[in-house]
Amino acid sequence: MTAHLLEITDLSAGEVRAVLDLAVRPIEALGRPLDGAGAALLFEKPSLRTRQSMEMAVVQLGGHPVYTRREEIGIDEREPLEDAVRILAGFHRLLAARVFDHTVLERMAAVSDVPVVNMLSDRAHPLQALADALTMEEAFGGLVGRTVAWVGDYNNVARSLGEVCALLGAHLRFACPVGFDADEAERERLDLLGAGSVVFTHRPAEAVGGADAVHADTWVSMGQEDEQASRRQAFEGFTVDEAMMAGTAPGAVFMHCLPAYRGIEVTAEVIDGPRSVVIRQGHNRLPAARAALAFLLGVSVPP
Ligand code: CP
Ligand code: NVA
Repeated sequence: MTAHLLEITDLSAGEVRAVLDLAVRPIEALGRPLDGAGAALLFEKPSLRTRQSMEMAVVQLGGHPVYTRREEIGIDEREPLEDAVRILAGFHRLLAARVFDHTVLERMAAVSDVPVVNMLSDRAHPLQALADALTMEEAFGGLVGRTVAWVGDYNNVARSLGEVCALLGAHLRFACPVGFDADEAERERLDLLGAGSVVFTHRPAEAVGGADAVHADTWVSMGQEDEQASRRQAFEGFTVDEAMMAGTAPGAVFMHCLPAYRGIEVTAEVIDGPRSVVIRQGHNRLPAARAALAFLLGVSVPP
């Protein structure tokens, strides 16, 4: 069966470890698994980091990326998604998509006989989570027993981050505004994946207290633009600032997948300050993407 990467939980803990190990290997060690083959990158939303890192990852693995906007294909308008995917799978060794509705990715995976990769959906952002794990491992040398805090809504980035951190044995602390958090079932799911512990709270100070990493994201994800005013109101008190960071563990880092809005979800002092690793985190999107693609293409490199 073809392996796809729609969510982090498409990988086992051992497979996440294998991807992160591939990410720190020199490019040449991965060989050229794409060797002249194509990779179709389909976007329904804008992107800086994901598009650029995926295009470069494909090139570094010996392949050729083809960037396509949804409107060029006319998915489910000019032709059914399934017809388009079956055709693309004949041209390419990999398909990747950034979509509004996660079920579009599931429909793609159901008919594609080449790997399908999620480049962000309303549910998940696995490539981001792999880069985040890589960045935290650089900072701490391992996530087992470390505390990872999230301040914001339980969104696509939070969910994938929670999954990867749980699989790597971290303690998870989510501070979400009322009405923007996860339910008990989600806490249990993350527990079962292997998290040291999982806490959901409405108080940011409780989540970041003693944390080794504090993550934030925009309060208004792509597709939620109409909710901007109500979200600003509901998220009051959730701006990550110096006072909040003061409660973290010594050496704690601030992280954000970017793009970031200074003065909204994080102050300029924090994101541009000495604890911030957001640029390194962004740069790590490339080795993480390269490793994820290589893994899906069957590359394994002895230690
Ligand atoms: N973090 C992230 O996915 O950035 P882009 O939206 O620019 O790809
Ligand atoms: N949660 C954000 C992440 C952007 C990279 C969004 O979905 O828009």
